[in-house]
Amino acid sequence: MTYQSIEVRKVTPVIGAEILGVDLSKPLGNQTFQEIHDAWMENQVIFFRDQEITHDQHKDFGRRFGELHWHPAVRPQIADHPEILVIHADEKSKRVAGEDWHSDVSCDAEPPMGSILYLKEIPPDGGGDTLFASGYAAFDALSAPMQRFLESLTAFHDGEHVYRGRYGYDDTGKNYPRSEHPVVRTHPVTGRKALFVNRGFTTRIAQLKKAESDAVLDMLYRHVETPEFQCRFKWRPNSIAFWDNRCAQHHALWDYYPHRRHGYRVTIRGDKPYYRA
Ligand code: SIN
Repeated sequence: MTYQSIEVRKVTPVIGAEILGVDLSKPLGNQTFQEIHDAWMENQVIFFRDQEITHDQHKDFGRRFGELHWHPAVRPQIADHPEILVIHADEKSKRVAGEDWHSDVSCDAEPPMGSILYLKEIPPDGGGDTLFASGYAAFDALSAPMQRFLESLTAFHDGEHVYRGRYGYDDTGKNYPRSEHPVVRTHPVTGRKALFVNRGFTTRIAQLKKAESDAVLDMLYRHVETPEFQCRFKWRPNSIAFWDNRCAQHHALWDYYPHRRHGYRVTIRGDKPYYRA
């Protein structure tokens, strides 16, 4: 892929690229937007450095790609910006967002297409990297019989065990989403097939007995986490990571306790996952 208005530097041959020559505080021209979109599709997660953006500019960038998503569990955290999720950890934290490998809110019937995380504060002694794994690479590396087997299956993704009681308010009586999605998902833009089960949300393969499902899911979670399918992003203040939840999973490392890490996530709505042979 060639680019005219941006520079794209791959982080690994498999997943991840840094985008240079873009100031996201300024409106994006159509060509620049298209090239960012193409780079995102090509690399599954893209990174920007040294961006100074407001909450409105953050949301405007997200809206170029689609409608913004509202989190099913988190109550609005920033006045006038209910769509923005605060990502925060410090010495009082008991847990942090995204510690297990996952794709965001995959329990939704229409899980988010993408997420744009903007970090302002980074732990002073390093740590707090985010790992990304390619669902395409994971699917492509499986044997043909295993690919055919998985293509025939669906799995349940559940928000209950992830979100119940997690966000510091009484959520008695609240129902969290639970959805059934294909185990192998066809990406609606690239047409490529990606493994679409994750350790965070996926609880059961619908067509298998529980013991069979547990064994297959465990094998797939380990497989997705293969280092060769991954890239690792080292944050600096004012960096942005923009990942495609349809074909990539991520894992936020919490190796910096008791230090602070702080930023904001805008999430873009997606469509119902499908498999097309
Ligand atoms: C998330 O899953 O959105 C959190 C990712 C991170 O903090 O690196």
